[in-house]
Amino acid sequence: MKKPIRVAVTGAAGNIGYALVFRLASGEVFGPDQPVHLNLIEIPPALPALDGVEMELDDCAFSTLAGVTKVDSDHLEDGFADCNWVLCVGSIPRGKGMERGDLIRVNGPIFTNTGKAIQAASADDVRIVVVGNPCNTNCLIAMNNAPDIPRDRWYAMTMLDQNRAKTQLAQKSGQGVSAVKRMAIWGNHSATQFPDFSTATINGKPAPEVIGDDAWFKDEFIPVVQKRGAAVIQARGASSAASAANAALDTVKAANSKTADGDFFSAAVCSDGSYGVDEGLIFGYPLISDGTTWKIEQGIEHDEFAQQKIEATLNELREERDTVKDLLA
Ligand code: NAI
Repeated sequence: MKKPIRVAVTGAAGNIGYALVFRLASGEVFGPDQPVHLNLIEIPPALPALDGVEMELDDCAFSTLAGVTKVDSDHLEDGFADCNWVLCVGSIPRGKGMERGDLIRVNGPIFTNTGKAIQAASADDVRIVVVGNPCNTNCLIAMNNAPDIPRDRWYAMTMLDQNRAKTQLAQKSGQGVSAVKRMAIWGNHSATQFPDFSTATINGKPAPEVIGDDAWFKDEFIPVVQKRGAAVIQARGASSAASAANAALDTVKAANSKTADGDFFSAAVCSDGSYGVDEGLIFGYPLISDGTTWKIEQGIEHDEFAQQKIEATLNELREERDTVKDLLA
């Protein structure tokens, strides 16, 4: 039997966790011949619910599930031991009257410990996807607390924004979603993100040419994508869970395989200074993967409108970084 891939999921009994772990166990992500061992991590009050998740995993009888280890979040090193992938989903949700800055400060300490424990215990080839919000800055904190882990291993999730944007373009043009490629999300996973329609293609043709309605892009497409999370909360009474879990798995698949020629995928990664972004910030970029590491797509020209949008999201990330500077070891 092949050696199992070990995947840690924090917040595994939460809404996204529940939509994520069965698909990880099913063979969908790493293939039908690749066993997967799941390390499921939760805070102590959620451990009984995690027992239920484990029972249901058992009851699926997945041939690819090699085992499950449940870990209390007070013992993070056990949770990340020998893990090849770490999906950081668990975090404290934004409460009533809480500002974004408060949320950052509340979640920050979780991610200092996460970074330290990943460095101490995970496998040499570990790759990390941060989903828990504010995901760019949580990822920045964890990465800075794990200086021995190469920086190209860290991803914060903007794939849900990419998927939302692709569907908007597909629906507007009357095409299937697979016709839409090269959809970049720049910057922060927040309402300042810039879903850049200018590089997107529909059946190989530039999306602006196919749709031919500049006002629609600026006045409808961008705000709809930026505010889609709030719209789902409004409709469902709970934040996106199945689509967020799906996007986390899409991120792992995209990072773990060669990107098709001419295409790219969106994730926030450690900036090397490309496109005028401060080096070291976790910034959403269009990426090309070789299955192990990535390159940022180069040579995209931004007009004044795009530059302003990128500047706004960059400034927000700089402010978030300043809010947590004491946590960046
Ligand atoms: P949830 O509240 O249903 O689940 C979160 C789980 O994390 C809970 O079971 C909780 O017990 C656990 N948890 C809290 N602190 C923890 C810790 N220190 N260690 C381990 N587990 C811990 O929330 P949901 O809906 O699953 O969302 C999780 C996160 O994902 C939230 O921060 C949410 O804002 C974020 N999110 C990110 C998206 C993105 O595109 N990047 C999209 C949607 C949600």
